[in-house]
Amino acid sequence: MAIEHIVIPAAGRGLRMMPVSRAVPKELLPLADRPLIHYLAVEACLAGARELLFVVRKGATALQRYFEHDARLLADLRAAGRGGAADDLEWLHARGVRVRAVPQEHPRGLGDAILCARAAVGKTHFGVMLPDVWVHPPETGMPALAACFQRDAESSVLLDRVPAGEVQKYGIAATRRRPGGGLWLRGVVEKPGPATAPSRLALVGRYLLPPEIFPLLERAAPQHGGEIQLTDALAALLEEQPVQGLRCRGKVHDCGHPAGYMRAFTVATRLRLQSRPAD
Ligand code: G1P
Repeated sequence: MAIEHIVIPAAGRGLRMMPVSRAVPKELLPLADRPLIHYLAVEACLAGARELLFVVRKGATALQRYFEHDARLLADLRAAGRGGAADDLEWLHARGVRVRAVPQEHPRGLGDAILCARAAVGKTHFGVMLPDVWVHPPETGMPALAACFQRDAESSVLLDRVPAGEVQKYGIAATRRRPGGGLWLRGVVEKPGPATAPSRLALVGRYLLPPEIFPLLERAAPQHGGEIQLTDALAALLEEQPVQGLRCRGKVHDCGHPAGYMRAFTVATRLRLQSRPAD
């Protein structure tokens, strides 16, 4: 069983990345010479996704435009000796993955953004990828959850250990060992204080969820600022069905705040120059 749809919430105001996000949507900020969504799309393709559903503010078209095929541009790039850039764009196009924008009328948090994609997803398991998290190598992100789904037909979330002083920035999981390998989620809590956090295992923005999450999102009580939290619906889901927790075997970069973004940029630039000298 492969996952068809991946929902990518991208309608936030990018407050943590102001002032730059006032000029450029944060999903389009570069890591080396590619925007964040390029890395995300590669990871989604490697997970076998057939459709990317970007949840965007009404009228926003920049993300979709990035994926439009432009044969003339590719030819011009090659003629100008920029074959590497053309290859990057062509790789995505050749995967044949569809890109759709789903409008979110009023941003009311991550849970609400996912609810906006309900009709497009239908009654199947689906992926969620948060665009301000870069997982490297990409195979250790969404593709690892997709492989788990293919093997066990179960939902899962990607986990990464964070420093004790950072638990209040993330959804944090309580887990127990799963016979046969991996972890079960026992509970999840959104942004707990260091004293009450059940562990240091953070939910890092990659989820493979069942369609049963939608009614739970609908019922989730709005939290601070009227936001509907995915973590709350996930906690309710755990009452109904098992969800696996997968420790990420790669490196998770949180690009959603300036310091994390700048560190990720440096790492991505180093990797990029190692794999292909700048042309
Ligand atoms: C969101 C989720 C949180 C998760 C985090 C990962 O928080 O609500 O559970 O751990 O993404 O980056 P946000 O970063 O939007 O505050």
